[in-house]
Amino acid sequence: MGGPTLPAGVAAEELEAVARAVAEEAGRLVVEERPDALGTSVKSTRTDVVTEMDQRSQELLVARLATLRPDDAVLGEEEGGASGTSGITWVVDPIDGTVNYLYGIPEFSVSVAAVVGDPTTEDGWEPVAGAVLNPVRGELFHAHAGGGAWCTTATGTRPVRTSDATDLGLSLVGTGFGYDAGLRERQARLLVDLLPQVRDIRRQGSAALDLCAVACGRLDAYYETGLNAWDRAAGQLVAREAGAVLGGPVDASLARQLSWAAAPGLAEPFGAVVRDLTDRHVGASDSRR
Ligand code: IPD
Ligand code: CA
Repeated sequence: MGGPTLPAGVAAEELEAVARAVAEEAGRLVVEERPDALGTSVKSTRTDVVTEMDQRSQELLVARLATLRPDDAVLGEEEGGASGTSGITWVVDPIDGTVNYLYGIPEFSVSVAAVVGDPTTEDGWEPVAGAVLNPVRGELFHAHAGGGAWCTTATGTRPVRTSDATDLGLSLVGTGFGYDAGLRERQARLLVDLLPQVRDIRRQGSAALDLCAVACGRLDAYYETGLNAWDRAAGQLVAREAGAVLGGPVDASLARQLSWAAAPGLAEPFGAVVRDLTDRHVGASDSRR
């Protein structure tokens, strides 16, 4: 509704096929070529790591997208991207769940989305196609705008839908935490107030997979503050196409920004609670970012 739209002559289905193909190739790379001694360096804080495979995965994604979609831009979590002229930007997370990858926990993903609009702004962009692959489980979630949400595994492709949850007190809720210690403390305060109001909390370690978990009913809802575009672009599209209601961002400041997704029957109570608790605990005191 009045938001950015696909350039003329571009089919969202084709972008979805590109997203799937490059995510699968990058997924193979990070699983098959992971070295025994994984090289790492740190980014925003001591706990925010990047491995050599994050960087290699991003380089592969940028190279393949340059071949398949030479006029599009690429914005990735790691160093190196590409500028473009088509109005489409590929927003890629070469490994979402890097800490899980580092520890050998099989809960990480390659996330690839085609977006229209400017993904460096908080809400002036829209994902139109995307894929999120958990390469260890062999599960590929994918969608394009208006086409439904799908999960492809070795046994075939099936449509995915959210749960039919309606009771906040019985809802299983996913969340995640940022890397900044001050932000984590505020996120923990929010959690203290939320936990007694829901069935339980899961912290799986990949925002992209959390959003896909809402899409397929493994979680009833998910929220997080401080996500970047690459954490959420593809997963949000999969969740929306699966029937989830999405909310946020609520503020232009990174640490205050709330993103949530919920099964439609939960959206009202869940959205109200997480908005209120974010304002109270995460937003209010944050003036640093
Ligand atoms: C992180 C994961 C995590 C979320 C963090 C993200 P990364 O991405 O998605 O689940 O809680 O906010 O930064 O660093 O593993 O690519
Ligand atoms: Ca990420």
